[in-house]
Amino acid sequence: MKRLMITGGAGFIGSNFTRYLLERYPDYTVLVYDKLTYAGNMDNLGDLAERFAGRYAFLQADICDASAVDDAIQSHRIDAIVNFAAETHVDRSIMDPDAFIQTDVYGTYVLLEATRKFELGRYHQISTDEVYGHVPVGSSRETDAIAPRSPYAASKASGDLLVNAYHVTYNLPVTMTRGANNIGPYQYPEKVVPLFVTNAIDNEPLPLYGDGLQMRDYQYVVDHCEAIDLVLQRGEIGEVYNVGTGSEMPNIEMTRLILEILGKPESLVRHVPDREGHDRRYSLDVSKIRALGWEPDHSCAEAIELTTRWYVENEWWWRKIKSGEYKQYYQRQYGWRLAQAGQDNRQA
Ligand code: NAD
Ligand code: TYD
Repeated sequence: MKRLMITGGAGFIGSNFTRYLLERYPDYTVLVYDKLTYAGNMDNLGDLAERFAGRYAFLQADICDASAVDDAIQSHRIDAIVNFAAETHVDRSIMDPDAFIQTDVYGTYVLLEATRKFELGRYHQISTDEVYGHVPVGSSRETDAIAPRSPYAASKASGDLLVNAYHVTYNLPVTMTRGANNIGPYQYPEKVVPLFVTNAIDNEPLPLYGDGLQMRDYQYVVDHCEAIDLVLQRGEIGEVYNVGTGSEMPNIEMTRLILEILGKPESLVRHVPDREGHDRRYSLDVSKIRALGWEPDHSCAEAIELTTRWYVENEWWWRKIKSGEYKQYYQRQYGWRLAQAGQDNRQA
C-alpha cells in the first residue's frame, strides 16, 4: 500500500493526515480526492503541492460519482483508499440531513464497490464515537451495539454497516477507526472548539448548549492521525479500533479553559437552548488500539491549549471562512438561540 487515495483530504482531519503521511513516508504517493464542499478548503493543503511535488496530487470530485472514482483509481494506480469524505456536523444534519445520507451512506457504498472492482489492497473507513450513541455510564467497546441518535451519527453508522457487510460478503480487506472529537489546526469553525476560540478572540458570545455538562473526549488531531496510520500498518483486517484519549471533559470546563488561555471573561458564555436529541456523553474504551502500540501524546487540556494557540496565530486561515455561507449558517443556527438566551438573562 503505497499509492493512497485520501477521500475528503481537503477537510480538517484528512488534510492533517495527508500532511502526516507525506512527511513520514518518502515512498508514498497520495491523491487527495475531494468535492470541496463548504468544509473542504485548499488552504488546508496549501504547501503540499510544492513540498511534495511528484508524490501528491489533488482531484476535485464527488465520492458519489462512481465513474469519477473509477477513473481516479485507474489513472493514479491507487492501491488503497482511506475514506474521510463525509458531511460531518451534527447541527447541520439536524437542519438538513439529505447530503449526509448521500455522502456518508451512498458515497461509502460507491467507494466499497470500487475497492471490490479494482481489488484494492485496503479500504479504511474513518468513523466516529457518535455511532455508539449516548453512553450514560461506562465506555463503548468496539463490540458494543451501535445506537446512533442524530442524522449525522445514523448516516455514519450506516456507512460502518456497509463496510462490515462488504468484508463479510466479499472478503474485502477493510479496517475501521472510530475517533472521539478531534481538535487542532484547520478545523472549520462550526465545531465547538474553533467556534468558541474564534468568537472569544472577537469578544463575541460563546453559545453553550443547555447546561454545558455534556461530556466529550477532545483529542489532538495528530494523535488521531498516528492511530489511523498504525491501523493501516498493523491493524487486523475486518477489525474496528476506537481512538481517543480515554478521558472526558464537560463542555463548560473546555469553555473555561479556552477563556483562560485567551485571557477573556466568563461573561462571554451564553447558555443557549440545547441541540435537539443532544447526546450527553460519549466515552470510548481505547484499550484495543493501545494494545496495538498507540498512546496519545496529548491530554484533552493540552489539545485545547495547542488548538487555541493555533487559531490565535492563524487568523489568516479562519477570517476568510467566517463570512458568506458561514454567516448565513450562523444566523440560522444561533440567531434565535442567542436571542432566547438574552431574554432568559433579562428575566432572571
Ligand atoms: P470536514 O467536514 O472538515 O471535512 C470533510 C471533507 O469531506 C471536506 O473536505 C469535504 O469537501 C469532503 N467531502 C464532503 N462530501 C464529499 C463528497 N461527496 N465527495 C468528496 N468529498 C466530500 O470533516 P472532518 O472533521 O475532517 O472529518 C473527517 C472524517 O472523520 C469524517 O468521516 C468524520 O465523520 C470523521 N470523524 C470526525 C471527527 C471530528 O471530531 N471532526 C471525529 C471522528 C470521526
Ligand atoms: P461539536 O463540536 O459539534 O461535536 P459533536 O457534537 O460531534 O461532539 O460539539 C461538541 C460539544 O459541544 C457537543 O456536546 C455540543 C457542544 N456545543 C455547544 O455547546 N455549542 C455549540 O455551539 C456547538 C457547535 C457545540
